[in-house]
Amino acid sequence: MEKHFGLIGYPVAHSLSPQMHHAGYKAMGIEAVYQRFTVKPANLEAAVYGLRALDFLGWNVTVPHKEAILPFLDELTPEARKAGAVNTVKVAAGRLIGHNTDGLGFLQSIKKQMPEVSRRQVVILGAGGAAKGIALTLAEQGANILILNRTPEKARKLVESLRTHGVDADWGELTPGSWLREADLIIQTTSVGLHGETMPFSLQGIDKKAFVVDIIFNPSETPFLCEARLQGCKTMNGLGMLLYQGVLAWEFWLGGRAPVEAMAAALSENFSERQ
Ligand code: ATR
Repeated sequence: MEKHFGLIGYPVAHSLSPQMHHAGYKAMGIEAVYQRFTVKPANLEAAVYGLRALDFLGWNVTVPHKEAILPFLDELTPEARKAGAVNTVKVAAGRLIGHNTDGLGFLQSIKKQMPEVSRRQVVILGAGGAAKGIALTLAEQGANILILNRTPEKARKLVESLRTHGVDADWGELTPGSWLREADLIIQTTSVGLHGETMPFSLQGIDKKAFVVDIIFNPSETPFLCEARLQGCKTMNGLGMLLYQGVLAWEFWLGGRAPVEAMAAALSENFSERQ
């Protein structure tokens, strides 16, 4: 019987997840369909129970529903509970299980460049939902984390929340400083660069050995990432994180190993087609 998966969010029209998952089903000979659904906030509860009634095996959840969906779920995995947000739902014997693959997806995406993050100096720019999931995961792996945000108070709150989960981090304002020379890994998680905006400071003085990641993938190189590359740093955009959050969602739904190569190929093909 054909299996059903999907994505709910608002908006979802430009998501590349269907192409990525379909390439995976094809590679593994699995009869399945992955569809996007535009779900307005007021319809979230009805949509969740509707998907369950339609025998969906699982679905991804994106902006703005990642936190709002929590009350409608029966169970949370430790990753979802810690993040306080869900990006993947699985239906098991009628029960809705919420999971979060963003943090581990990020970790997986940097594995080639940085196989071990323990005791590395990590600077996270931004203190929103994406920053939280990444900070938690890297801190649990033993990284030393500094969170810098335009509104420092939000960075402080994020660090407080990390502490309730037993991990620590420093925080500060999003300004240049000695961190530029000390960081092994810099992760840009703000929305700056989505529309060509530049960061309010330059990367002058950055250690060329720093690995610089921007979780934005469209545009494929933000002005921030471009500057890091021109400074001589290794850089990576957010397509890897998108891939691995999808790979981990696949494995959560279907078990076994997802066909990463096929999913990666579909993602980059469809991404470059769109440019
Ligand atoms: P998400 O959940 O996707 O991470 P979010 O919660 O809206 O998104 O967070 C957006 C992040 O981008 C925040 O860290 C925000 O900084 P503030 O907390 O100070 O608002 C950051 N951000 C957005 N526009 C920015 C700008 N022009 N300069 C610096 N930071 C910006």
